[in-house]
Amino acid sequence: MRISVIGCGYLGAVHAGAMASIGHEVVGVDVDVRKIRALSRGEAPFFEPDLQELLTAGIASGRLRFTTDIAEASGAAVHFIAVGTPQQAHGHAADLTYVNASVDALLPQLQPGDIVAGKSTVPVGTAAELAPRIEATGATLVWNPEFLREGWAVKDTIEPDRLVVGIGASTGSATGQAGEVDAGRRAADILREVYHPAVAADTPFIVTDWATAELVKVAANAFLATKISFINAMAEIAEATGADVTQLADAIGHDARIGRRFLGSGIGFGGGCLPKDIRAFSARAEELGRGESVAFLREVDAINLRRRDRAVDLVIQGLGGSVFERRIAVLGAAFKPYSDDVRDSPALDVAVRLRGLGADVVVTDPAAIDNARRLHPQLTYIEDRDDAIRDADAILMVTEWDTYRRELTPEHASTLTAGRVAIDGRNGWDAAAWRAAGWQYLGMGKP
Ligand code: UDX
Repeated sequence: MRISVIGCGYLGAVHAGAMASIGHEVVGVDVDVRKIRALSRGEAPFFEPDLQELLTAGIASGRLRFTTDIAEASGAAVHFIAVGTPQQAHGHAADLTYVNASVDALLPQLQPGDIVAGKSTVPVGTAAELAPRIEATGATLVWNPEFLREGWAVKDTIEPDRLVVGIGASTGSATGQAGEVDAGRRAADILREVYHPAVAADTPFIVTDWATAELVKVAANAFLATKISFINAMAEIAEATGADVTQLADAIGHDARIGRRFLGSGIGFGGGCLPKDIRAFSARAEELGRGESVAFLREVDAINLRRRDRAVDLVIQGLGGSVFERRIAVLGAAFKPYSDDVRDSPALDVAVRLRGLGADVVVTDPAAIDNARRLHPQLTYIEDRDDAIRDADAILMVTEWDTYRRELTPEHASTLTAGRVAIDGRNGWDAAAWRAAGWQYLGMGKP
């Protein structure tokens, strides 16, 4: 099938590569000339396992190409909208500039029978607002949210755990014509063909209305963020009582209704999705007069941000009351391992705060240093882990890359550092092992 993907950022580049890999003929379109040049050479513009191979294979097969010319989207049966929806510069709502611009650019290319499939994370109600202009061309709009995780993006796209397609004309939608229900059903059938390997593998395929499809995405992210902040709230209680939040998470996680995943306590969530999505959700709920329904998301956000303060406090405590002019090695800059993404990274935020307190901060990360340096050029970066921790008075793990969490032993660290203070911002180290090796170990929500 001929497919266009409008927007070749994280979501779009992976989607384009994945669609080519399952046999479609794909053109990826973006306004960023540098990005398109890199992608056309088969280079992934960001760190993502398997993406490079996917792009190279797609381009070599002749089924994948990238362009800045939107006219090349013409003739595709399905046009995916995969542009970003960042947080507005002033306020918490989502900025829909790129969604609107991509639809404006796409309109002249649409032909009757085409399908426009929105993948971007948008405030509920966006599809109904975009639909009249798109459907005036004879094309059909569906909303098909993505659930990919950075670091697993290729796998999550090719083997998703569910597919959701929101079609127009359900009760309460903007249109409601019988013909449009049929068009929507036909569009859903075409998306079944697009995702044929996942459909053949019996992946749940949920056909719903636009509003539900839009909400599924933000509800999923709101739930995940809440789960993390729940365990981090328990960490705060553990700190007041001498309990151990990791053991608590293990114990409650055995209940299948709760589950252990996403109960990882530490400095909390960041990245390009969870923080902005919960804020945009709150802003949209306010607009709908339902702010109260998701008022708890403010607490989720607040708990999350408090954990960064806590990490800073632990470093101060570990160093005897002040970090001023003390050398601190910060292990990690990315918002999570297997990513070079530093958007809203709690790791980097903690590093910046420590430097603001006068500490001599050295940041290391296996993948994210270039991005971190662009954002915070005032910090000192050292690529090599051992060079970064050499002569440090304290080491602080804030991104749980294997090279820090599993491979860095207290015995080895002892041969390099000046002090013996280990702060575990991700609760990933074995406290007993570090203590046994003579270290002062401080974890999050641990005695
Ligand atoms: C998230 C959603 O998981 C994904 O489904 C959605 O499509 C986009 O947003 P992503 O931002 O890639 O994906 O990261 P995720 O793996 O969810 O982690 C988000 C943040 O939560 C990271 O900063 C991570 O370190 C943190 N986290 C995760 C915890 O603090 N504890 C946990 O137990 C899990």
